[in-house]
Amino acid sequence: MSARQVRSVAVIGAGYVGLPTAATLAHFGHSVVLAERERSRLAALRVGRMPIVEVGLDDLVAEGVAAGRLTFTDSAVDAVTGAEFVFLCVATPQSADGSADLSHVESAAKEIASHLEPGAIVVNKSTVPVGSASMVEQVIGRPDITVVSNPEFLREGTAVLDSLKPDRIVVGADDARAAAKVGELFSSTSAPLIVTDTTTSETIKYASNAFLATKLSFVNALAGLCEEVGADARDVLLGLGYDKRIGFEFLRPGPGWGGSCLPKDTRALLHTASEVGYDFSLLAGAIASNDGQLSRVVGKVEAACGGSVDGATLAVWGLTFKANTDDRRDSPSLQVVHRLVELGATVQAFDPTVDPEADVPEDLRGLELRGDPYEAAVRARALVVLTEWDEFRWLDFARVLAVMAEPSIVDARNLLDPAAVRRMGFRYTGIGRR
Ligand code: UGA
Repeated sequence: MSARQVRSVAVIGAGYVGLPTAATLAHFGHSVVLAERERSRLAALRVGRMPIVEVGLDDLVAEGVAAGRLTFTDSAVDAVTGAEFVFLCVATPQSADGSADLSHVESAAKEIASHLEPGAIVVNKSTVPVGSASMVEQVIGRPDITVVSNPEFLREGTAVLDSLKPDRIVVGADDARAAAKVGELFSSTSAPLIVTDTTTSETIKYASNAFLATKLSFVNALAGLCEEVGADARDVLLGLGYDKRIGFEFLRPGPGWGGSCLPKDTRALLHTASEVGYDFSLLAGAIASNDGQLSRVVGKVEAACGGSVDGATLAVWGLTFKANTDDRRDSPSLQVVHRLVELGATVQAFDPTVDPEADVPEDLRGLELRGDPYEAAVRARALVVLTEWDEFRWLDFARVLAVMAEPSIVDARNLLDPAAVRRMGFRYTGIGRR
């Protein structure tokens, strides 16, 4: 088989992983059918509108559609008909006990089982715990079908870049030929290919997210220590980052780590560890430290308001779990904001991805949504920056100052220039910054 042979691929699920995966595989020259059962999502895709905020995704999807290499369907069964490879990219939310809920993976596998082409390869791209490849194999129950693990490492907000230029491709299979075939789908990238067994591959995914979460908890804890000893965390982290073994990536202190992956995956790994009787207290500590970071940020806002936010009007900039995405799942910003509301604050919030005129979604109930950052600041006792949207840097801070009740900023992302805003008359508190 030549390295660039065109393959027919089905992708099940057009979410944050499935959609970039489908568009990328089409870009690599494969013929891709993307199945999405949610009607509004599918309707948006069919008219070229992206159902998620993701830089460059619209162009990549449009390219695939125009070339006839990317098509959409509402039926997983139709998608797998004629497909040599079937990527499962369905959600694996957190169950009540912290483990990964595999019901969507299971039902997708059941639905397609009898429709798969003879010898098709099913690829688990959803984040699934150790043992899931064999679980899917059992559900499908056909000796001619191999299930391969191919974890996804893309980040929201940079999904297109991460998919086109991945750091590595991991393929786990108990059948080496199937692993090689899946690896070849990505031969257009120059990424190193790690071929291993399914258990190891499934572990790599959780290990990566758990390591990143632990790194961030360390960084946030270090920033807290810097505040106590009077060191400047930014310079401390600069001093760390130049050490090539540490590096600069994932060294930004913040309000705590969140999103749809790190919190859920760290808990799932902890759950796996406890199931096998392994004491992973280091990881438990990283999770607890993250909860502590949210409380520290709430404390900073209280301090900025003279010790209590009860009855205070606060401006909040940023509600998504990080910039360049519209995703608010497990957003540290929302966790901080809801705690402030519980403490008696009125929160006037602005986020570039939230339309204050639309029906208020459940996670934003109790907040006063505003259409621009200046409106959010009106009569506020403090301005709290919770998501690092770049546009917040370039606002007219004289205008912000003029409408606020008190000139106080709590910058939980270290986004602003403290010297510049202090010169204008603001009181400024960052994370680990003097
Ligand atoms: C994460 C991983 O980074 C991806 O490799 C992985 O594929 C993905 O989960 C997944 O499992 O699907 P993502 O959830 O998109 O990606 O977000 P990250 O960029 O990892 O950020 C996670 C949280 O850490 C955010 O709240 C972010 O604001 C925070 N963060 C990140 C910091 O506070 N400081 C940093 O320096 C970096």
